Amino acid sequence: MSNVVVIGTQWGDEGKGKIVDFLTPQADIVVRFQGGPNAGHTVVVGDKKTILHQIPSGILHPTTRCVIGNGVVLDLEQLLVEINELKKQCYFQNESALLISGNAHLIMPYHKQIDVARERRKGNAKIGTTGRGIGPAYEDKVSRCGIRVSDLLDDALFKSKVHENLEEKNCYLQHFFNESPLDPTDVIERYISMREGIVQFITDTSSFLIDAIRSNKKILFEGAQGALLDVDHGTYPFVTSSNTVAAQAAIGSGIGPHHLHVILGIAKAYTTRVGSGPFPTELHDTLGEMLRKKGGEFGATTGRPRRCGWFDIPLVRYAARINGLTHLALTKLDVLSGLKKIKICVGYRCKGEILEVATPHATVLPLCEPVYHECEGWDDDLSNISSFDDLPEPAKEYIKFIEHHIELPVIIISVGVKRNQIISLQHPFAL
Ligand code: IMP
Repeated sequence: MSNVVVIGTQWGDEGKGKIVDFLTPQADIVVRFQGGPNAGHTVVVGDKKTILHQIPSGILHPTTRCVIGNGVVLDLEQLLVEINELKKQCYFQNESALLISGNAHLIMPYHKQIDVARERRKGNAKIGTTGRGIGPAYEDKVSRCGIRVSDLLDDALFKSKVHENLEEKNCYLQHFFNESPLDPTDVIERYISMREGIVQFITDTSSFLIDAIRSNKKILFEGAQGALLDVDHGTYPFVTSSNTVAAQAAIGSGIGPHHLHVILGIAKAYTTRVGSGPFPTELHDTLGEMLRKKGGEFGATTGRPRRCGWFDIPLVRYAARINGLTHLALTKLDVLSGLKKIKICVGYRCKGEILEVATPHATVLPLCEPVYHECEGWDDDLSNISSFDDLPEPAKEYIKFIEHHIELPVIIISVGVKRNQIISLQHPFAL
């Protein structure tokens, strides 16, 4: 019996949604344990594309229970939109499919306002956030003035928390950012009226998960963003405001770390990044443009074009270390078809030294110059290949090169956006 954690090994957008969707039929429960509506997990079923922001991608399978854990910051308005969309598309027909931790924190309107105003004020030095209020919501959680989902169930407590917060936030918004203040009565009425849409989902998800573990249920933990966006271990300050690494799966869902068995790192066959910050293998030429177009590299949440570059081994080696990865899944291999030569970064030249593992420090990574190995490309269309043996030789060599240098087995390879465009060598729940 294994529980599986799916983790991004780069800067997010590695294709985690598709891998979670592929693994879900074997899982009883799928859990989101950090982040919020900054995430955009894309799943294509038939010709229909669904983008999930807060609800675990497992919701597309009718018998799977989906948990939004305590580590998440939740935008209620967006959640209701997502629920309605799913229901319209004939998903999520059974209300018991979704459970929301009462300890998850609410993203409030002032969080979004502060996030956007702060970025505007920073100008060129901005982080490039998604503007969803993620940072300010986590700040309030840590400074112990955040509003939890369960606070919605107590009118008096909720009202007093909104009043108390707005006293401070309005002052900040008006006098520091020159923004309009928010009316506490409006905010309270809006949230109380939205409460009806989610009250039935609020529960103690930690004890639900522990009971499930005792009954040998299989749990899939769906990470959001990527290792290099982790607030502690990423390219700080160009990171998100949560811990995105595997250990957070335990903290953000209220279970012990010994219940996490397989740590599956998802790596795109090249590298992308949205927002600001260092990116050693970034391509600023027509090749980068080609990857962006062919790979559809535009943000699932904000639509922003993603920066594109070659696969970066030191970066994924670093992700393997900080997550304790046990296996890898490689996505979007099909996008590389048609290239004569494919470069792969094997190390960095930095201050006269060769680094084999990325050091994502703000004073080091921008100085790193990639050292490349050149692999043979291939022309074949991979999108209908379902077995490793049928891949063209250079594609097999490319995968083996990555396996060898990261010292982890690649057990899943994605060769297209659709559900069935996948090569599975080993199933993580069977390990
Ligand atoms: P925030 O999470 O909105 O505060 O944004 C902080 C940084 O994380 C920015 O560079 C965003 O572009 C990036 N980011 C946040 N969520 C995602 C994601 O789901 N995929 C890729 N990048 C993300």
